Amino acid sequence: MGERSAADEARICELTALVTGAASERGIGRGVALRLAREGRPLALLDLGADGLAEAAEQARAAGSPSVATAQADISDEASVGAAVAAVDDAAVAPIGTLVSCAGIANPTPFLELTSADFLRTLSINTLGTFHLAQRVLPRMLQQGLGRIVAMSSTAAQDGGGNFSTSAYAASKAGVEGLIRGLAKEVAGTGVTTAAIAPANIDTDIMGGRLEGERREQFVARTPVGRLGTVEELAELVAFLVGPHGGFTTGATYNLNGGLRVG
Ligand SMILES: NC(=O)c1ccc[n+]([C@@H]2O[C@H](COP(=O)([O-])OP(=O)(O)OC[C@H]3O[C@@H](n4cnc5c(N)ncnc54)[C@H](O)[C@@H]3O)[C@@H](O)[C@H]2O)c1
Repeated sequence: MGERSAADEARICELTALVTGAASERGIGRGVALRLAREGRPLALLDLGADGLAEAAEQARAAGSPSVATAQADISDEASVGAAVAAVDDAAVAPIGTLVSCAGIANPTPFLELTSADFLRTLSINTLGTFHLAQRVLPRMLQQGLGRIVAMSSTAAQDGGGNFSTSAYAASKAGVEGLIRGLAKEVAGTGVTTAAIAPANIDTDIMGGRLEGERREQFVARTPVGRLGTVEELAELVAFLVGPHGGFTTGATYNLNGGLRVG
């Protein structure tokens, strides 16, 4: 195999980017989808919710994406992911070259109250869901000799969480980071790269309600840079990682936490 060139990496923008979690109106997946749409990249959006998906697709087309396929799936269910990825692969104008795995759930249950079913559900969506998606898109990426896989971890994977989410969530996200590292090594040299992003305090609705009033002030006060992060800031990092200049980083976790945890 010869040395890879920058032109090889530039092809990534022509391939379809599969983004999960884009149904959430103010969520990270939506922000990522719209950021990539503005670059004119073809998209495939996958989520549980049909309404949010249709709205996301409409916005992505308006923002400049030439083609937006959508599919409903529960990412914890292997068969559901398999059917959805096959459907968007058929509908998309170009093969899938990028996966941005943003779908996920929080779990604030205290340790002694956790049931194994509750623990398993968190792992099944956050960790196994990422595995299902990556396993489905990887063969195509290997065939193309090019691919980017980016998954959302959380600062909780490193510091144990505690604000919105506790041990089950922290374990599920630590699993995502391990998966991203292991996969990076297995596919090194094939043109496929991976990355995890560990955010904290991004201003979304993950806990089912917007952060407002005193609660919001507490979060801001706890964040060293003095404000919450935005989905646009996170989407910008994703755009770099899944763009033509993102090919020389693989297996790394990128912290985006306003200084909450440094190092
Ligand atoms: N917002 C933050 O500050 C923050 C911090 C750390 C990590 N994260 C991570 O970033 C990701 C996105 O978070 P967000 O704030 O945008 O959350 P969000 O709740 O706004 O969006 C999550 C999306 O995931 C989808 N989803 C949930 N379970 C699913 C399933 N089983 N199958 C398919 N789709 C499913 C939901 O429908 C929703 O559209 C999550 O993985 C989250 O853990 C967020």
